[in-house]
Amino acid sequence: MLIDSEKATQTLPTPEYTPDHSPVQSNFNSRINTNSDSSLRTSTAQSHLQNEEKLRIGITGSGGLVGKTVVALALRKGHSVLAMDIFDSNNESTKLPKDLIEYINDDNDDNKIEYKYEKVSSLDYISYKKACKEFGCNALIHLAMIPNGNDLDDRVNPNEEEFKGNPQHEVHNQNVSMSYNTLSIAAELGINRIVLASSVNAIGLLFSKTRVFDYLPLDENHPCRPEDAYSMSKYFCELQADSFVRLHPEMRIATLRFHGVMSDDKSNKRYLNENHKGHWKDLWGWVSCKGVSKACLSSLAIPMNDQNFGVGQHESFFITSPTICQQVNTITLLEKYYPELFKENSKCKFDKEYFTKGNKGLFDCSKAKRLLGWEEVGFYYEG
Ligand SMILES: NC(=O)c1ccc[n+]([C@@H]2O[C@H](COP(=O)([O-])OP(=O)(O)OC[C@H]3O[C@@H](n4cnc5c(N)ncnc54)[C@H](O)[C@@H]3O)[C@@H](O)[C@H]2O)c1
Repeated sequence: MLIDSEKATQTLPTPEYTPDHSPVQSNFNSRINTNSDSSLRTSTAQSHLQNEEKLRIGITGSGGLVGKTVVALALRKGHSVLAMDIFDSNNESTKLPKDLIEYINDDNDDNKIEYKYEKVSSLDYISYKKACKEFGCNALIHLAMIPNGNDLDDRVNPNEEEFKGNPQHEVHNQNVSMSYNTLSIAAELGINRIVLASSVNAIGLLFSKTRVFDYLPLDENHPCRPEDAYSMSKYFCELQADSFVRLHPEMRIATLRFHGVMSDDKSNKRYLNENHKGHWKDLWGWVSCKGVSKACLSSLAIPMNDQNFGVGQHESFFITSPTICQQVNTITLLEKYYPELFKENSKCKFDKEYFTKGNKGLFDCSKAKRLLGWEEVGFYYEG
């Protein structure tokens, strides 16, 4: 890999090192297919989802914010679930709500829906593989991760002097190992449908000293320039996915770039606008927990012989709301926080008119709509 130290903000890795299917150099040009083909494609994806195959899904990080919702949605859709996390089995996060237990038991005569929780670390290769093998998993959703500490995450507690959280080497080493283990176990066990939780931070946003945008809104073809361990680990899981589909062309992998996931009680216009507001460093984005869960399951449900997202493919997807958190014109926030974008010598290409009306989001999720039939609701500002 060639790195020009004078151009440290340039994309890594350099293009000659970048594989064909990489999110950095995707074979899929999301800007081209925004015509009538896309609505046809979306309706095809949606019809696939209505007839989806019942799967046996291993879900790591099952006790977390996203994990709990994904587990519940998977069960409600009739899939069997092996939930895995590092909590003891008597921990509340591992328990299903009563109505879901009743639903599984009621809806279960012909086609048994199974739910099992196992305390297993995604870092423990042998136990992780054994659990997936014994349950007979044929799909994996890997959500487990450890986040950055408060040295880098100023949302947690900006005035806290004492170090809290995870040191960078642990964040990197654990997250990168967990995603590798997931892919390697899948390859060993012949599990071909895989989702890895990535993040918008793969681009290099919230935890970066500098953010460089080549164009807005951001799509999956935009270069990734992560600086910190968490963001790197998300970018690296996407590169790992590139490598695994190259070596194991029977696999299909979706890496989903979530953004500011909001629980049900917070996914509303008032909370987002008045309390949450979003963060300027990651462009005021958000997505609902339900939306994220649907994206995970849609990514597994597309038939493996699908022409646009089938066997042998790895694709990254932005999974964010079409509107920013705040009820303001997007352009006013850009002008305030990113004045450099408006200078004559700015290298960032964007249509100022487009962001002048409404609170349009700064991430283009049309690829997820076309390939997965996925779309998030927005809370639109009419101004
Ligand atoms: N929440 C967000 O806003 C957001 C945004 C972008 C991306 N993501 C990604 O989505 C995924 C889920 O996020 P979340 O918000 O639910 O996080 P969370 O912190 O709520 O849940 C993560 C879970 O992983 C578990 N875990 C940690 N180490 C583990 C290990 N070694 N083995 C097994 N489990 C382990 C934790 O116990 C926890 O239950 C993560 O990969 C995260 O990076 C989340």
